[in-house]
Amino acid sequence: MLVTLIFLVGVSSSLALDNGLALTPPMGWLTWERFRCITDCKKYPNECISENLIKRTADLMVNEGYLDAGYEYLGIDDCWLEKERGPDGRMVPDKERFPNGMKAVADYIHSKGLKFGMYEDYGNLTCAGYPGVLGNERLDIQTFVDWEIDYLKLDGCYINPTAMDAGYPAFGKMLNETGRQILYSCSWPAYQEDAKMLPDYASIAEHCNMWRNWDDIEDSWASLTKIMNWFGDNQDRLAQHAGPGHWNDPDMLLIGNFGLTEDQARVQMAVWSILAAPLLMSVDLATIKPEFKAILLNKDIIAVNQDPLGKQGLRVWKKTERGVRSRLEIWNRKLYDGTYAVAFVSQRDDGIPYAASFTADEMQLPKGEYQVQDLYKDEGVRQWNSEDHFEVRVNPSGVKFYKFIPRASSDAIKSDSGFVSDAIVNVLMNNS
Ligand code: GLA
Repeated sequence: MLVTLIFLVGVSSSLALDNGLALTPPMGWLTWERFRCITDCKKYPNECISENLIKRTADLMVNEGYLDAGYEYLGIDDCWLEKERGPDGRMVPDKERFPNGMKAVADYIHSKGLKFGMYEDYGNLTCAGYPGVLGNERLDIQTFVDWEIDYLKLDGCYINPTAMDAGYPAFGKMLNETGRQILYSCSWPAYQEDAKMLPDYASIAEHCNMWRNWDDIEDSWASLTKIMNWFGDNQDRLAQHAGPGHWNDPDMLLIGNFGLTEDQARVQMAVWSILAAPLLMSVDLATIKPEFKAILLNKDIIAVNQDPLGKQGLRVWKKTERGVRSRLEIWNRKLYDGTYAVAFVSQRDDGIPYAASFTADEMQLPKGEYQVQDLYKDEGVRQWNSEDHFEVRVNPSGVKFYKFIPRASSDAIKSDSGFVSDAIVNVLMNNS
């Protein structure tokens, strides 16, 4: 066994990205979903993509407890560049909106104990039409290193998706060779899924710390459920590739913006935690309402997302009632200590809470006795024996999110040791 393990570790180190980052899903904040490509600072001084927005957000991430909760990356998405490169061929940040250049922004972010994320595109242009890296890869990587970035989202507009299987790994190799630890977020499979190609997720997981699998999220319940349904429908070919160092990315959190109710925001936080998804907020932290802030800062749910085993959870059960626009589904994630996080998500939109009861098999829980904690703390702790049905009542377009803790300590220890050995192998494989 030991020989096999050493052999596997050796093989993985020659192929893998091997930057030691993202051992749990990355957490942070990105401009795009909320602030898009707002570049007119005269009209929208608090919303334009600018040094001011980034500094203000850095202050709020630290002062309002987001950094303490784990949100450490602060990232600028598209629309930070001048339309033309400089005379030396280098990328130039917009001179009005970033009057002190990017290194000054990086220094400010780092002085706050945060990490700095940036966006570029592998093609000729970014998706919003600013200069892409194609043809200038080495120079741009050097520029990013000079600016001391910690995270790079490399988008895939204006390049043929068939070029990505070689291109993304080659770019990642160059990033790695700089010796600076830069988390590598790839949009590689999103463009291939869109082109109806079948992405090579094994290779993607070897070369990227995270990867956007699919469509852009928009600020609505319709978009959120479309993405959740796609991840559920395709979980058999996605979930196995997630683990410490490499994660599927269903896109940013909408929580705190205009399109989701509080119940719907709770759904996203629960499902993203089950999916071991990166938790990237995209919201104005200066004006976010307290109920949404509480969802983003829910420590018990963040702990599910950040579980060290790093095993992506699954949609284990679903039902759509004929004639009623009503649908309930169960998502289950095994955690390193032998407990389970289980979310009951209602997609019904007829204003009626969904009351139902489930067997252990339907929830995919081993038989036994459990203590059950409500992670949103609306309900007190319950004791539940798998000989009984488990009863839930879920708000329309809402969630009940529980942690199931096996009560029989012998069972817990048995499963514990199994999980931990898996976790160690995973960490070895990914740290080697
Ligand atoms: C693409 C990406 C988005 C965002 C925009 C920026 O659509 O998928 O996440 O980065 O480009 O233009």
